[in-house]
Amino acid sequence: MPNKTITVKQLLEMKQAGRKISCLTSYDASFTQLAEDAGVELLLVGDSLGMVVQGRESTLPVTLDEMIYHTRNVARVRQSALIVADMPFMSYRTPVQALESAGRLMKEGGAQMVKLEGGASQLESVRQLSSQGIPVCGHLGLQPQSVHKLGGYRVQGRGTLAADAIKGDARALEQAGIDLLVLECVPSGLAAEVTQSLTVPVIGIGAGAATDGQVLVIYDILGMNLHHPRFVKNYLVGGRNIQQALAAFVQEVRDGVFPDEEHSYQ
Ligand code: KIV
Repeated sequence: MPNKTITVKQLLEMKQAGRKISCLTSYDASFTQLAEDAGVELLLVGDSLGMVVQGRESTLPVTLDEMIYHTRNVARVRQSALIVADMPFMSYRTPVQALESAGRLMKEGGAQMVKLEGGASQLESVRQLSSQGIPVCGHLGLQPQSVHKLGGYRVQGRGTLAADAIKGDARALEQAGIDLLVLECVPSGLAAEVTQSLTVPVIGIGAGAATDGQVLVIYDILGMNLHHPRFVKNYLVGGRNIQQALAAFVQEVRDGVFPDEEHSYQ
């Protein structure tokens, strides 16, 4: 008998109760099993797989078929964590295309929620997906699919104008129907304001300790990273094995120990 999946409602209740949500990326069956055993609530099949699995310079070349393939590998062994799958670059240019891509990720891949990057430009797609009963995760702050427009992987939301834009986008996305928001690489104070202003849970990566949960790339927490952003912490230290490292990440998120100031932006 399969375990019951964590629901969107349970994530909301965790936020309301002040219980932190832990999330790791996963792209295959073996890491999914390990992450499940460690007790994560969310498994993110991120398009970061383009960089950490495929060795590409950005997430842009990742295709929808590749995302479906990896999501299916994760879904086969998932037990209770909710699977969030990234909509890859150019797979949600219009609301109609967003519906088609999300439908494939769910029907063929087994995703239980889809994630898309962007604020104001994505409101109609979010409305459409939500109206079809598809749980949606927004993604603001550093949006890796816009790396060439941003001019690199940089902290976002510094300064009043930029911070206000992120706050406005977050509120608009919530009104459009998102169930979850990922906030990447923003100053801790801004992330705290966004988290307090939204009803839906906010999951941070490089966004400080005040968000409702944390996500990291699974290879990064095992020290298998080609890049070393400030927010990454290697948990495969002090004689821990992989299982213990993943469990330590989950525990530190739950206890509010991770991220500390050293792994956050001010
Ligand atoms: O693709 C990914 O892994 C992500 C996380 C970095 C949040 O979007």
